[in-house]
Amino acid sequence: MGATGATGNALLHSLLALGAPVRALTRTPHKPIPGLSGATRPPLEVQYADATDPHSLRTAFEGAGQLFLAMANSPAQVALETRVVDIAADSGIEHIVKISAPAAEPDSPVAVSRGHHAVEEHLRRLGMNRTILYPYAFMQNLLRLAPAVAQGAILGAMGEAACNYIDCRDIGDVAAAALTRPDIAGGTYTLTGPEAVSHPELARRIGVLIGHQIRYVNLTPDELRENLIRRAHMPAWLADHVTEIQQLAVARPETPTGTVSQILGRPPRTLDAFLHENRDRFRR
Ligand SMILES: NC(=O)c1ccc[n+]([C@@H]2O[C@H](COP(=O)([O-])OP(=O)(O)OC[C@H]3O[C@@H](n4cnc5c(N)ncnc54)[C@H](OP(=O)(O)O)[C@@H]3O)[C@@H](O)[C@H]2O)c1
Repeated sequence: MGATGATGNALLHSLLALGAPVRALTRTPHKPIPGLSGATRPPLEVQYADATDPHSLRTAFEGAGQLFLAMANSPAQVALETRVVDIAADSGIEHIVKISAPAAEPDSPVAVSRGHHAVEEHLRRLGMNRTILYPYAFMQNLLRLAPAVAQGAILGAMGEAACNYIDCRDIGDVAAAALTRPDIAGGTYTLTGPEAVSHPELARRIGVLIGHQIRYVNLTPDELRENLIRRAHMPAWLADHVTEIQQLAVARPETPTGTVSQILGRPPRTLDAFLHENRDRFRR
């Protein structure tokens, strides 16, 4: 699922590179799937599936043995993922690879992570074979900073706390390993890039890359939340989520794990390589 999304699309390309048969599910078939061009042919199928439409899920899961589940964050996420899991189990799917998030615990300070925990518990109760991936912040999210970079300042509420940024292509490669390698399937994996980087350091590196100094402006959590709602026009639940994630990084300092290297036998992609590859996106 989520073939148009950050991790689902990365996985799709990882599976195609391996020559594995894959059914890419999208709820908007008229919208191009990034990286695919022209008519699709085996081992790739593209099919409509919307988590709000149970019939489409049943049709999409016919004959499939495994499911990758990544769903956009929303207030409906737990209900939608729970429905997807139930229909997958009824359809004979035997293994689910689920994208969860750090701090997926019943009393997590991050509401979205509490939701992930609820879905994981549902999978456990059903007794399904499951691989759970706990990636830290996606490098691809940083592209959303481009408008702020254009104005010369990045805002945040995490002071000097560092983030374990990971490139979604590494998440895709690990998910592909879980779907194609019995030694990886069924595990739980915390996924990070090779280094944790703070917001001030991120601003410095982007500044060097584009040849303009970029400031980091540290706000209080309340100021950040207000800013996201009033200036970035985020819905309140999403502003809460961004603020909670930043507070989590302050409360629980992030350090890289070696999980990506252990599974893939190569180091994870670096933040510098990602920024360099995308430098034109940050240029004014
Ligand atoms: N971003 C991070 O830094 C981060 C870190 C750790 C964990 N996570 C977790 O990663 C997950 C998101 O993964 P992602 O970034 O790959 O998501 P994403 O880029 O936001 O993509 C979400 C995918 O879900 C699809 N989708 C949304 N509603 C759907 C529905 N009703 N039926 C079927 N498909 C639907 C979207 O399709 P459309 O293209 O049609 O909208 C899209 O393909 C979240 O659960 C989040 O908690 C994120």
